[in-house]
Amino acid sequence: MAENILVCTAWPYANGNLHIGHLAGAYLPPDIFARFHRLKGNNVLMVSGSDSHGTPITLRADAEGVSPLEIFERFHGQFLETYQQIGITYDLFTHTDTENHYQVSQDIFSACLENGFLYKHTEEQFYSETEQRFLPDRYIEGTCPVCGYESARGDQCDNCKSLLNPTELINPRSKNDGSVPVLRATEHFYLDLGKLSDDILAYLSQDKDYWRSNVINFSLQYVKDGLRGRAITRDIGWGIPLPLEGYDSKRLYVWFEAVIGYFSASIEWAANHGEPEKWKEWWYRPEAKTYYFIGKDNIPFHAVIWPAELIATGRHLYEDDTSKFLNLPYDVPANEYLNMEGEKLSTSRNWAIWAPDLLERYDPDAVRFYLTAIAPETRDTDFTFDDFIRRNNDELVAAWGNLVNRVLGFAYKRFDGQVPPIGPDGLDDLDRQMLSEVEAGFDTIGDLLAAVKLRAALDEAMRLARSTNGYLNEKAPWKAIKDDPARAGTSIYVTLRVIDNLKILFSPFLPHTSQRLHAYLGYEGQLFGRQYVEDFVETNRRHSALCYDNSQAIGRWQPSDLQPGQALRQPEPLFKKLEPELAEQEVARLLGK
Ligand code: MF3
Ligand code: ZN
Repeated sequence: MAENILVCTAWPYANGNLHIGHLAGAYLPPDIFARFHRLKGNNVLMVSGSDSHGTPITLRADAEGVSPLEIFERFHGQFLETYQQIGITYDLFTHTDTENHYQVSQDIFSACLENGFLYKHTEEQFYSETEQRFLPDRYIEGTCPVCGYESARGDQCDNCKSLLNPTELINPRSKNDGSVPVLRATEHFYLDLGKLSDDILAYLSQDKDYWRSNVINFSLQYVKDGLRGRAITRDIGWGIPLPLEGYDSKRLYVWFEAVIGYFSASIEWAANHGEPEKWKEWWYRPEAKTYYFIGKDNIPFHAVIWPAELIATGRHLYEDDTSKFLNLPYDVPANEYLNMEGEKLSTSRNWAIWAPDLLERYDPDAVRFYLTAIAPETRDTDFTFDDFIRRNNDELVAAWGNLVNRVLGFAYKRFDGQVPPIGPDGLDDLDRQMLSEVEAGFDTIGDLLAAVKLRAALDEAMRLARSTNGYLNEKAPWKAIKDDPARAGTSIYVTLRVIDNLKILFSPFLPHTSQRLHAYLGYEGQLFGRQYVEDFVETNRRHSALCYDNSQAIGRWQPSDLQPGQALRQPEPLFKKLEPELAEQEVARLLGK
């Protein structure tokens, strides 16, 4: 039976371009995972969007002297391009500045309030006398009270990941002008995490063996250390107003509403498709599985705070059946960090490779391959151009690409552009062994993909490609064709069929080249669906979103039944060899030389 799989990916702040850390850590893994489940015939809904609010946006807007709207629209547009280029197939990639998202966020706020999980509290917060306004958390820096790191932000310490309140910082100072802010009383709404603590602990304690150990350990510890109420409103002008009279100068806190985006985007997707109730198949069916792909700094928000918000929202939001609960995250496969050339990525120091730049010079599948091969699934990993080029050449080109090239080229030339028949001697042990080895890949690689062990899954596919090279060298059909063309034909038939299997096994990772290979093998149609940008109009807003239509996709996660006689198309190399000298040039470019 088809499963319902919701694939959620972190909402990137629309305040700058995406870089390789974003792609490897949070955006590429869910695409591989979603493509796999679509091939399996499961009902996949993959949603996300640009995080349009919050201080990362207003800081940049202030710096450039433009409106926050202008900033987020610029980078939202960039994200749509990058995702199309690299092929990240969101069913809907929207943003948080839509009427729909406002409405859903306000409804969740109201539900939490009615259910008694919000309270009002007046607290002293940092006020800038030089700027005459309350300072958002991220506008304040100071020393982390937990680890002593000196440049901790008011909301979170980048060093030890602790979530902070700015008043906990030692030696606080304004990021804008370095002035020391003063404390001033202000009233805010708080999410009563203390009251939710038992429920969250129960949720995290129940059947989580399949969670990555760093994610579950961190989350459990976070709850056990004691949860306190967290303010979910702010004294700012850019964001979502409260659905209450008398709070005009306040907005919902970005972290309270951005996570709601997973839910509101599912609703938006269903409405766009003329099936306004359809989102419930992922949010209310208890057997649906919901996955959240994020970087490790986002763990507390997805494994603790978002579940808390869902629990506080209670039953039957937009649902008549009062026995139903919103689904809590089934898994949060957070990644560690990707470093670059041995150093931590830093956008402020411009130590990063920007996605639009990289994709201008390299093919999307080469980038997808390397970023998956070094995915920081269990520990921080390092991107180096040297290694990128080496693995591109040794694995993608030498092991997989050349196999395809050799065999397709040979078959095309020597067998009349057709898949040759099995000779009169039939298949021998080696032939059968090769076929069953690759067919077993649908289970082994499938299990790894389902468990979000993407790196191991890719390794296994590459191992099978190498094994196929071994088979081919043993059979040497280019020699056999002289004395026994029928036997050579059998080996070529077997190899083509193995390649046809590998095409599918590689396709979640390498969708573009698998599609080309599909055509060279003589097939019609598209393995995956169609990705496109659509403009949507609400009452007084319009927005562009990335969409995906899987209805014409013919790719299936099942063994090939390639038939002799099928007409091949003239093949071209799938991948490009990269000159080792490039590495030096790339590093020089990074260093601004
Ligand atoms: N914008 C946040 C970041 O880039 C992530 C938000 S994820 C969400 O770190 F779920 F809250 F949207
Ligand atoms: Zn710290």
